[in-house]
Amino acid sequence: MKLLVTGGAGYVGSVTSRLLLDAGHEVVVLDNLVTGFREAVAPDATFVEKDIRDAADVLTPEAGFDAVLHFAGLIAAGESMVKPELYWHENVVKSLALLDAVRAARVPRLIFSSTAAVYGNPVELPITESAAKAPTNTYGATKLTFDHAITSEAYAHKLAAVSLRYFNVAGAYIRDGYEIGERHDPETHLIPIALQAAAGKRAKLQLFGDDYPTADGTCVRDYIHVEDLARAHLLALDAATPGEHRIYNLGNGNGFSNKEVVEVAREVTGAELPAEIAPRREGDPATLVASSAKARAELGWVPQKPTLQAMIGDAWTFYRAHVA
Ligand SMILES: NC(=O)c1ccc[n+]([C@@H]2O[C@H](COP(=O)([O-])OP(=O)(O)OC[C@H]3O[C@@H](n4cnc5c(N)ncnc54)[C@H](O)[C@@H]3O)[C@@H](O)[C@H]2O)c1
Repeated sequence: MKLLVTGGAGYVGSVTSRLLLDAGHEVVVLDNLVTGFREAVAPDATFVEKDIRDAADVLTPEAGFDAVLHFAGLIAAGESMVKPELYWHENVVKSLALLDAVRAARVPRLIFSSTAAVYGNPVELPITESAAKAPTNTYGATKLTFDHAITSEAYAHKLAAVSLRYFNVAGAYIRDGYEIGERHDPETHLIPIALQAAAGKRAKLQLFGDDYPTADGTCVRDYIHVEDLARAHLLALDAATPGEHRIYNLGNGNGFSNKEVVEVAREVTGAELPAEIAPRREGDPATLVASSAKARAELGWVPQKPTLQAMIGDAWTFYRAHVA
């Protein structure tokens, strides 16, 4: 298939582009590099440096794209609370312009990176796709809003659409000296922060709260290896059906506590990794764990690298080669 990958210079988009190319697809990456890296773009993809607002320049009816995989967007939940207007504009207004371009070019399929943040504080665990959607930050609200726009588009215009709701993404794509991984600035995700501490790039690591109702008192989150996540996009492309907006949670179904993450990071890196317990952060639920039963049943998706050792091991290989 001929595929347009928005955000293909970012973490998840660059790894997914690699897997799409490995599977024999033709990939055009569209990215404005606001948070992405030119060198992360898969070498055998065509790169177009452009904002998604102007996607219609590339998505012409003559270009013959079979699908758009839409990763581009801003992703920092904390920032979205202080600059909500930026997040509404970038994640909703510009994504709607992309959707207009998809319609005008008669692209039959759209795969969208949604997020666990659409659910907010869970009422029941594990979180299924039918759980209440009550985002606790603007970031989650913008992603949910675009999900709704896709639902109407699929219904009215027979788009074949799939939203994949990721939980915490980790790890890197590592093959024979070729590595792509996570690099966010500022870094807000626990595993890369732990690796920064292990590499001596930050003095210590903070764990927010150790009095939660979990086995060791620290928050429990569901981590998924980026390669497993990328693989789900290939399955979604095959499963997409005209007139349907399918939605799947992607997680391990197993949570890992913050303390477990730090222990495995110590094991993998061999570093002392100084960590301290800080006060709880407002709005942090004790446990967020996905039910991915629907993705397993309908897409045939099975995570291949479900352990923290695999995720942190690959992330460390990438970190030492490209970030440290
Ligand atoms: N990383 C996670 O843990 C996680 C979890 C859930 C959902 N997601 C979703 O996955 C997607 C990718 O996340 P990521 O971690 O790879 O983020 P990232 O910041 O590494 O990648 C985002 C990419 O989009 C590009 N971009 C942003 N705005 C753009 C615009 N207006 N026009 C063109 N390009 C633009 C950036 O330059 C960057 O390359 C996002 O939509 C995010 O909401 C990520």
